[in-house]
Amino acid sequence: MQHEKITKYSQFPIVDLPDRQWPGKRIEKAPIWCSVDLRDGNQALAVPMSVEEKIEMFRMLCEIGFKEIEIGFPSSSDTEFEFARALVDQNLIPDDVTVQVLVQCRDHLIRRTFEALRGMKKAIVHIYNSTSPLQRRVTFGNASKEQIKQIAIDGAQLVKSLLPEAVGTKIRLEYSPESFSDTEVDFALEVCEAVMDVWEPTPQDPIILNLPETVQWTTPNVYADMVEAFIRGVKNRDSVVISLHTHNDRGTGVAATELALMAGADRVEGTLFGNGERTGNLDIATVALNMYSQGIEPNLKFDNLPAIREVYERCTRMSVPERHPYAGDLVFTAFSGSHQDAIKKGMDLRKKEGPDSPWRVPYLTIDPADIGASYEAIIRINSQSGKGGIAYILARDFGIELPKLMHPIVGEVVGGIADKLGRELTPKEINDAFTKNFVNVDSPLALKVFESNSESKPLISCTADVVFRGENYKIFGNGNGPINAFVKAIHSQGWKNFTLRDYRSHAIGIGSASESAAYVSISRDSDGKVFWGCGIDTNIELAGLLALVSAFNLSRKF
Ligand code: KIV
Ligand code: ZN
Repeated sequence: MQHEKITKYSQFPIVDLPDRQWPGKRIEKAPIWCSVDLRDGNQALAVPMSVEEKIEMFRMLCEIGFKEIEIGFPSSSDTEFEFARALVDQNLIPDDVTVQVLVQCRDHLIRRTFEALRGMKKAIVHIYNSTSPLQRRVTFGNASKEQIKQIAIDGAQLVKSLLPEAVGTKIRLEYSPESFSDTEVDFALEVCEAVMDVWEPTPQDPIILNLPETVQWTTPNVYADMVEAFIRGVKNRDSVVISLHTHNDRGTGVAATELALMAGADRVEGTLFGNGERTGNLDIATVALNMYSQGIEPNLKFDNLPAIREVYERCTRMSVPERHPYAGDLVFTAFSGSHQDAIKKGMDLRKKEGPDSPWRVPYLTIDPADIGASYEAIIRINSQSGKGGIAYILARDFGIELPKLMHPIVGEVVGGIADKLGRELTPKEINDAFTKNFVNVDSPLALKVFESNSESKPLISCTADVVFRGENYKIFGNGNGPINAFVKAIHSQGWKNFTLRDYRSHAIGIGSASESAAYVSISRDSDGKVFWGCGIDTNIELAGLLALVSAFNLSRKF
C-alpha cells in the first residue's frame, strides 16, 4: 500500500444534484424482483451448475415467488442453451413467471438466443453493452460515444427485427448500459433513449432500463444520485421500468440498492445470499427481509430460509458465512451474557403481551421464527443447530478448539442431550457430554502400549499392545508416521476397514504440563460414513493415537 501521499487512487466524482429528493424518501413497497442466480450467480461459480442443478434452483426461485428469473446466457454455452430448452420442453415455467435471457449486442449471439426461446410463452431479452469512459477507452480501444451508442441501437434493432420469427412468444426488451455506475449520466441517458427510439415502448408495454452498478466504485449515495438524475432525465418515464443491478465491491450492494429504490427505481436484480461475480451481486434475501422488518410485504417467501440455504449451498457449492444477515448460522445467536439476558427478557415480555404485539426484542431485528430459525437457536447451546454455540463454549471454557468439520456431529450429540433434557445445558454439562461421547473412547478397542521407531523416517514401524473385545493382541504396522503405522497395524487384523481422512492437534492451556487435544476423522470403507474422535493426553503423539482409537470405536458403534 502507498501511505500518506496516495497517488495511485483518487476520489470518484460526485453528482451535481443539489435538489436531490431521495434522502427524504422511504421505501414504501416491494419492487419487481428479478433473480439473476442462474446467470450472474452461475457464471461466477468455479463449477457452474449442471442443467439438473439449475432446474432445482429454478423451481426453488419460483417457489420463493420470483416472477422474473434470468435463466442465463443461452448463446454462451451448450449447458445454458440446453437449460433454456429444458425449461420449455419439460414445461417447467409457471404461467406467472417470465424468464429473462442475457445476450451481448452481437448479431450471431442474439440470433442464437432467439433459437433458445422457441416455444416460450413470454420472455425478456436482456441486451447490454458497456458505456463507461474506462470501458470505451480500454475495452473498446478508444471507441467514440457514437460508436458505443450505435452498438446498443443495432442490438435493439436486431431484436426488434427478429420478433416476427418468435411466433407465440411475447418478447419484452431489457437494455443495460453496462458499467452505468462509471458512465456519465447524460451519456447513459442518450444511449438508453436511442434504444427507446428503436423499441418504441408504451406504458402498456414498457422497456426495462437496467442501471448496473457493474463495479461499485464509490459510496451508495452517489449511485442513488445517479439513479435519481437518470429517472428525472429520462423521457416517457411511464413507458420505462427502471431496474437496479448492484454488485458488492465495497460491501455496500444492499445499501446502494436501498438508496436507489428511495430514488425511485421500480425493479431490482440480484441473487440469493449475494452470489455473483467477485464480491457478488446484491443479496436479494437481505433487501427483502429488511423490508419485511419495516412492515413492508416483500412479495418473496423466505419462511424457511435454512431450507433455501441448503439448496443454494448444494447447487452452487458456495457457503453462507456465519455472520451473513438473516441466513448465517450465528446471526440470531447471542454469545454475550448481557445480550442473552436482554433477549430473554424481551421474549418473556412478548409472551405476556401476546403474539400479535409488535416485535420489540433487543438485539433481534426480526423474529427468527418467521424465517424458519427456532427460538432455541438464539441460545445455541440448547438447540439442534447449536454446533456454533457448543464449539464456542468448548473453546472458551475448556480450550477445546474443535475442527470446523467436527462441529455438526458434536452439535448433534450434545444438542440431542439438551433436547432430551428439554433445557439449557451448562458449560460443564456440555464438556462432560463431549468427553463422554468423543474423547479417549476405549471400547471395543483400547490402546495399552505403543512403541515406534519414530526416528527412522520416512518409513517407521510400530508395535502396539491393544485389547479388542476383551482379548489382548500385539499388532504391528509400518507407515510414514506413528498414526499411519498404527492404522496399518489395525488394518492388519481385519477388524474393520477404514480410511484416515483428517488429523489435527493443539495444546490445551499453556506451560509444559499442559495437555494436547487431537482430532482424527476416518471414513468407514463399507459405506463412506465419516467419524470423528478426539484424544486428550499430555503426550501429543499419544493424543493422536487415542483420537484414532476413538474414531475407530465410534465407527463400530453407529
Ligand atoms: O453487472 C453487470 O453490469 C451485468 C450486466 C450484464 C447487466 O451483469
Ligand atoms: Zn452483474
